[in-house]
Amino acid sequence: MVKYEHRSKTSKPFVSFWESLTSKQGARARAHYVLESIKEYRKQAKKILEIGCGIGMVLVNLPERYAVYGLDIERDYIEVCRRRIPRGRFFVSSMHNFKIDEKFDVIFSANDVINFLKDFDQWKSTFKAVNEHLNRDGLFIFDVYTPKMLRDTLHWLEKYNRSTSSVKEFPKGYYYDKEMVKGNTLTWDSRIFERLPNGLYQLNKYRFKETIYPVAKMKSALSEHFEILEANLREEGRKILFVCRKR
Ligand SMILES: C[S@@+](CC[C@H](N)C(=O)[O-])C[C@H]1O[C@@H](n2cnc3c(N)ncnc32)[C@H](O)[C@@H]1O
Repeated sequence: MVKYEHRSKTSKPFVSFWESLTSKQGARARAHYVLESIKEYRKQAKKILEIGCGIGMVLVNLPERYAVYGLDIERDYIEVCRRRIPRGRFFVSSMHNFKIDEKFDVIFSANDVINFLKDFDQWKSTFKAVNEHLNRDGLFIFDVYTPKMLRDTLHWLEKYNRSTSSVKEFPKGYYYDKEMVKGNTLTWDSRIFERLPNGLYQLNKYRFKETIYPVAKMKSALSEHFEILEANLREEGRKILFVCRKR
């Protein structure tokens, strides 16, 4: 029989599990769509900044010819990036009010990072900060959830009366998460059962909240600073990928 020792943590990031939780293939696919847009609209790009870079899963896939920069609100993640990508430069800051004394050819954010901002005012100030850090004609590339994600999640929860996720096993333990939808907020209620050297499991709890807004509202806020070059629906309309150019 497995013995459990329940100790709940708050939202301190659980860095050591991240790599096992995130698919490398998914990170490569995110790097691919960023690189495709660069190839199409900004072939000569040299300096690239990722906002909300996490542990650098996407940045490691960018070719060495680029000078890479990353920013994240969590210091633990940035420390992993610094070890992992010594040639990069990294900053701890929220993306909605960051200030870096440099300008970039491309700024991107991948994996619905913008949805993690608290409210739409923070979305707007992120767009402004990005614009201020772009070189002339610089690109802003990002993907976010659309309201269809909220509708589909509600539908799955009602239809199957359960979360869409199942328990996943990793070398260091088990992971499980459950989605909750309330208004325009999608919450991921996550549990990590971490295997301890004594054979017991420690329960770690995390909550991630994402706020989701209508596409028309996003487009209108973006248009204040950018020309929208592409707005492509993905994942059956649950996500949208924007490619924008600084005005
Ligand atoms: C789903 S992860 C994505 C990481 C990475 N972009 C990738 O594709 O692997 C979301 C990241 O956004 C970061 N984040 C959340 N809110 C943020 C904020 N206000 N400013 C900067 N980073 C933030 C989190 O710390 C986390 O690293």
